[in-house]
Formats: sequence, C-alpha cells, structure tokens
Amino acid sequence: MTAQASLSFDATTFRRTLGMFATGIAVITARDRHGNPVGLTISSFNSVSLAPPLVVWSLANDSTLRETLEACEHYAINVLAADQEDISNRFASRTGDRFAGLRWEEGLGGAPLLEGCCAVFEVRNSQRLPGGDHVVFISEVIRCDRSEQAPLVFFNGQYRQLAPR
Ligand SMILES: Cc1cc2nc3c(=O)[nH]c(=O)nc-3n(C[C@H](O)[C@H](O)[C@H](O)COP(=O)(O)O)c2cc1C
Repeated sequence: MTAQASLSFDATTFRRTLGMFATGIAVITARDRHGNPVGLTISSFNSVSLAPPLVVWSLANDSTLRETLEACEHYAINVLAADQEDISNRFASRTGDRFAGLRWEEGLGGAPLLEGCCAVFEVRNSQRLPGGDHVVFISEVIRCDRSEQAPLVFFNGQYRQLAPR
C-alpha cells in the first residue's frame, strides 16, 4: 500500500486546513537569461535560520519560472504591503505583462525591487531541494530592508488586513 492510499483526508481538506495558517504575501523577482525581469506571487515564505541568515519558500514544479529561478545566482523576495493586492493578483496570473507600468529598482543580480513593499530580502540562491510537487528554495539573505507599512495578509483563501489591537 502506498502512503497516498492511507491518507485520511483529501486534497481539498488539506489545502483548506493549510489555509488556516495566516501568512504574508511576497513576490519573488529575478532576471531570466535574456535579462528580462520575471516574478511570481508566493505565500510559502518563512524564516529558517538567524545565523547564518536563511529563508525558505517553495515553487511549484510546473512553474514557467522554474528553470530561471533554479539557475539564477541572486533573486529578491518583495513582501507586499496592505495596498498591493493588485500586484499579488498580477504576479499570480499567467496572462499579461506582470511588470507593465510597475516602478522598481535594480537589486543584486539585477533582481527587481518593487516600489511600495513593506520589506525586501535580497538573497543568494544557495540550496534547492525536491519537495513533492514543489521545489524548496533555502536561500542566504545578503541584504534586507523594511518600511513601517502594514502587510498584505492571506488567510483562509482570502486577502486580509491586520486589525488594530
Ligand atoms: C496568495 C497566493 C499565494 C501563492 N503561493 C505560491 C507559492 O508559494 N508557490 C508557488 O509556486 N505558487 C504560488 N502561488 C501561485 C502562483 O503565483 C501562480 O501559479 C503563478 O501563475 C505562477 O506563475 P509561473 O508559472 O509563471 O511561476 C500563489 C498564488 C497566490 C494568489
């Protein structure tokens, strides 16, 4: 019997249960081998280690950016602010130019640093591990910066904002 056959829950239950873990939302950005800016929306970001400074996130095996993100030396993790829901949606869509009209600066390796984010991590693409239907990226933070803006939050399949205490 395979491990899959012995599961007591289905994929929908698993996805909806994972959705109860509230996260922020980030856009991973890099340059492809032609120098074009690329990026996608993720919520699988988290911290791993303080010393050395390591972070983790995972990329679907069928991502159109898999080859680029596995190969690039540096990339950036742009943590979205509460008013950047439209940016989350555009970087999660496979239609349209994700960078059209966006303002950004160039970071390490030419990775786009998006304007208006509440934090940014510029990282070295150090380790990639197979993780089922995803590739797990563990990367070393070279530079990081933050602003005082509120974050965009994702919970139970929906965008949220932090309520004042
Ligand atoms: C809130 C949110 C969180 C997401 N998190 C991830 C993630 O952690 N990893 C991932 O590979 N895709 C994630 N996605 C899906 C990708 O953004 C989406 O599939 C995108 O179209 C992928 O484009 P690509 O194939 O060009 O990489 C997320 C989407 C949304 C809206």
